[in-house]
Amino acid sequence: MKAKVAVLISGAGTNMAALLYAAKLTDCSYEIVLVASNNPEAEGLKIAATEGVPVFAKSHVGLERAAHDAIMHEAITQSGATYVVLAGYMRILSTEFVAKWGGRMLNIHPSLLPKYKGLHTHQRAIEAKDPVAGTSVHLVTAELDDGPVLGQIEVAILPRDTANTLADRVKMAEYQLYPKTLADFVARDTNPEYLTAQVRTLALAQPQADEVLSHGMPCFGIIGGKKFAYVSVDHHGDGKTALLLKISGVEEQAMLIDSDAERYYRPAYFGDGWVAIRLDLGDTDWDHIGDWIAKSWRAVAPKKLTKLMDVANKF
Ligand code: GRF
Repeated sequence: MKAKVAVLISGAGTNMAALLYAAKLTDCSYEIVLVASNNPEAEGLKIAATEGVPVFAKSHVGLERAAHDAIMHEAITQSGATYVVLAGYMRILSTEFVAKWGGRMLNIHPSLLPKYKGLHTHQRAIEAKDPVAGTSVHLVTAELDDGPVLGQIEVAILPRDTANTLADRVKMAEYQLYPKTLADFVARDTNPEYLTAQVRTLALAQPQADEVLSHGMPCFGIIGGKKFAYVSVDHHGDGKTALLLKISGVEEQAMLIDSDAERYYRPAYFGDGWVAIRLDLGDTDWDHIGDWIAKSWRAVAPKKLTKLMDVANKF
């Protein structure tokens, strides 16, 4: 199952093309399901359309920022994409849009961040007599060209480099960096080791929690007490990575499975008091999983511990 990606562009779209060609490799972990632009004339739209990728264009002219972003968001959602990749998208994004795609939106910037945010990055690097320039892929946050860096490539500056000659070489580095970084990033979301580590962080953040191995499964419980979370990886070769949590009973279990039969299922051998939540569908909301784990912890924690927590939470 490949991760579905929407690419947003405003111009030439050469990074988009690099992403698209890498996606044609059979083992690539992502596919591009939409190329969208705020500029109906963007060259990159023609490339994508000719390659058979769905395209969408909506000019921002005359629209409020949030209204334009909402239209883009709708098109992206319709395409089925669960990741947004900015590739020369020359728009500052509204906080609403950034919040909607938080943790699932990447950008490429032609400098070694945190150096030289904004424009004219190459000229600034040359003027500062930096020995190297480069490019960075980062997660998008509300601040411009900010957010955790996922990957970088350094590009040596030649004595005679101009902003243009340097920009050309940095672009070559970008064409290597972006597909690889994106492919690795989306692969994490289905990688059992990464998913287990995410659960571990959330589960061990619960009071008096510890981890043991139970029937080969990473299992989280209250020290000397009951278990509140298990991670099931490829159980009897089912190919799934899922989190098993304590719930109120058969009714809640049935309601969850009814609401989303792909995501929730009845875990074998665990009975009605537990539900399995798939973690490997590529769209896991970790805040939500954190709440789930806390609820499960509470369901098995001794009263004196939950009372202590309630008192502590009041302050
Ligand atoms: C790239 O240099 C990228 O770093 C920056 O915008 C440029 C886009 O170029 N964010 P292209 O449209 O991909 O050719």
